[in-house]
Amino acid sequence: MSSIQARKKEHLRIVAEEDVQFRTTTGFERWHFIHNAMPEIDLKDVDTRCEFLGYKINQPFMIAAIGGGESHGLELNRDLAQVANAARIPLVLGSMRILLEDSAVLPSFKIARQLAPDIPIIANLGAAQLNDNLDSRKVLRAIQDIGADALSIHLNPLQEALQPEGEPSFRNVSHALEILKETLPVPLIVKEVGCGLSLDVLKRLYKIGIKWVDIAGAGGTSWAKVEYHRILEAGAKQLATEFFEWGIPTAEALTAATQLKDLHLIATGGIDSGLKYAKAIALGAELAGAAAPFVAAWRKKGKEGIAELLDHYQRTLQMVMFLTGCAKLKKFRGNAAIIQPQNYQNI
Ligand SMILES: Cc1cc2nc3c(=O)[nH]c(=O)nc-3n(C[C@H](O)[C@H](O)[C@H](O)COP(=O)(O)O)c2cc1C
Repeated sequence: MSSIQARKKEHLRIVAEEDVQFRTTTGFERWHFIHNAMPEIDLKDVDTRCEFLGYKINQPFMIAAIGGGESHGLELNRDLAQVANAARIPLVLGSMRILLEDSAVLPSFKIARQLAPDIPIIANLGAAQLNDNLDSRKVLRAIQDIGADALSIHLNPLQEALQPEGEPSFRNVSHALEILKETLPVPLIVKEVGCGLSLDVLKRLYKIGIKWVDIAGAGGTSWAKVEYHRILEAGAKQLATEFFEWGIPTAEALTAATQLKDLHLIATGGIDSGLKYAKAIALGAELAGAAAPFVAAWRKKGKEGIAELLDHYQRTLQMVMFLTGCAKLKKFRGNAAIIQPQNYQNI
């Protein structure tokens, strides 16, 4: 097993077995839906279907990128793809860096497209990897080999800086993204991994021409905590503890981001309940998503666990839409009249 594969496998184990969640909250608890006792709709008329990347999907939710390592990667992608396809929701694959270095691992990525022909499949790569003599033809070939509909690029400066084998070089990251944007025929989605994207970063991404972003804020998986469990050197371990709570909480990043009207927003980071998911959509996200909750569900009950979790998210969203009088997502999404901060002020 290569060192990247071993690392991915360790990440998966640590996320499942250790307490690596932020203490800092997502900030969604500060938002309340305004209960509508006269919704004037029937629960069965509530429709959560929408479109994403040209596909019709059943709810505005995606399974966020989860890298798995060799055999784990194959099993995980197989199970995620089968369930995501049956549930008609998009799937983001774990980083394909490993594939750029060793084409023998292609089956563990390709299996997703093979088993999930009806949903958006999104390939993923780290921005830190774009710096070393980026060869966009190689990236394009990998996307085509996988059969992906889009590429998501993760920005993870904190993780790279703490990771023992990390590559904390982000010097030409804007330029590299610009080149990719110009040369790739598929949409680019730029994401964080749990520290959030600030308004300033979003403005810079928009300037480059990026249309889709996943703010991936703080409140869920803390990568400083994950890497802490892998670091051996005492000083580096202590350094990681300083950054356990580093990042912009998901709800804060999301509400700030909605100022930029032309950006398509995805919200991940601590969306571990149906209610948080519903709040993310009501606050203006086009899609929400989660990673760690699916790792836990998969480890516990395999495919059934993933399917149950997706069903739970969808049923909660349906209930919230009903109880706020919104039969269609068009009315529900970004509707300031149904959700308010703190205590009820304008009901
Ligand atoms: C085990 C695991 C592996 C992950 N691997 C990747 C990855 O390869 N690429 C990526 O962009 N994000 C990766 N992430 C980050 C997630 O996509 C997501 O942005 C982050 O975990 C926040 O969501 P959460 O709080 O729901 O976990 C991974 C997350 C987990 C839990």
